[in-house]
Amino acid sequence: MFNNIKKDFPIFLNIPDLVYLDSAATSQKPQQVIDSVTKFYSKENANIARGLYKIAEDATMNYEQVRSKVQKFVNAKSSNEIIFTQNTTSSLNAVMRGWGENFVKKHDKIVTTVMEHHSNFVPWQFLAKRKQANLVVVDVDDDGQIDLGDFEKKVKDSKIVTLSTVSNVLGVINNVNKLCDIAHEQGAICVVDGAQSVPSMPTDVQKINCDFLAFSGHKMLAPFGIGILYGKEELLEKSDPFVYGSQMIRKVTQKENEWNDLPYKFEPGTPDISAVIGLGKAVDYLSVLGMDNIHKHEQMLIGYLLKQFSELDGLNVLGPENSKQRGGLVSFSLDKIHSHDVAAMLAEDNICVRSGHHCAMPIHERFGLAATTRASVYVYNQKEDIDKLINSLKQVQKVFS
Ligand SMILES: Cc1ncc(COP(=O)(O)O)c(C=O)c1O
Repeated sequence: MFNNIKKDFPIFLNIPDLVYLDSAATSQKPQQVIDSVTKFYSKENANIARGLYKIAEDATMNYEQVRSKVQKFVNAKSSNEIIFTQNTTSSLNAVMRGWGENFVKKHDKIVTTVMEHHSNFVPWQFLAKRKQANLVVVDVDDDGQIDLGDFEKKVKDSKIVTLSTVSNVLGVINNVNKLCDIAHEQGAICVVDGAQSVPSMPTDVQKINCDFLAFSGHKMLAPFGIGILYGKEELLEKSDPFVYGSQMIRKVTQKENEWNDLPYKFEPGTPDISAVIGLGKAVDYLSVLGMDNIHKHEQMLIGYLLKQFSELDGLNVLGPENSKQRGGLVSFSLDKIHSHDVAAMLAEDNICVRSGHHCAMPIHERFGLAATTRASVYVYNQKEDIDKLINSLKQVQKVFS
């Protein structure tokens, strides 16, 4: 599948021997997205929601059209439920500040999992400390799956349950539909970190029934600087903004002010309009490929990679053995070789992987590891990229043996 896609991505034309296996960090960008940003700056550049002249009105209309596109992409009920932020981190912090500050009280329970990225861990740790609430962390089994018994026990009487759909270290896909249902039975709200899932598989917020969902444009072919927060309208209404000024205000007198309506209440200041325009093109591009097809393509590549990995002695994989339980990434360690040495040697062959703790120290600690190497795939990767990785890894093992 997607055999001819690489030609859409200028980076592969400019660096023909590039083996890019780090899309979990950020994806490459297709020409269509790059062109849309250039076109905006060269032909349409104006601020939104202000000017009454043509290019300003066009910029506002195009910006709002992208909001509707994103609404459809994740099947939200209303475009008021789509807030543009800077990235997943700022979206999750907006929930912590906006909803958490208003509703979390002393002794309340906030539940998260040990596999979370720091962006979905530290904000809750901070909130729990400030409010004298309890942060409770659900464990995983040795296969990297959420321990359901532990989850059900810990979720009892909680206020917030927050977890990722796909772990950026274990690669495991969590059954967020079921986990959100369990959270709701306890009266908790369910916050989902979709940074690693929204770019790679169909997302339906109404089916998941999550209360909030955070994701980043830059991991799904869009430019840097644009993140998305989906929130159920009634919860966004009950949340307060925490950055003040500009268009998030409807009325200001010398004594008082009034928040603007959704979604503007959470969009203070001039946004990165060009990034939003690029996001619109990225959503178009992904929609033409089909999110189901993208998911299948990634699982095919990860299945192929895991099979080859199983034939390498001294290579240990984190997370499920079965590629059907995974998104498009695999973290691994090589016996007696530091992950930075692995990544540095692969870089000599122009193979890009990530090494370190991937901003997820608790899960590394859980498995007794300081660091791992992570290979991740996306729409433009093919089996030959995996073959090159395997050949280079064999070389790394030879050098260090
Ligand atoms: C699961 C997960 N959550 C959150 C983030 C943070 O995303 P961003 O840096 O775009 O805010 C990442 C980034 O890698 C991630 O993988």
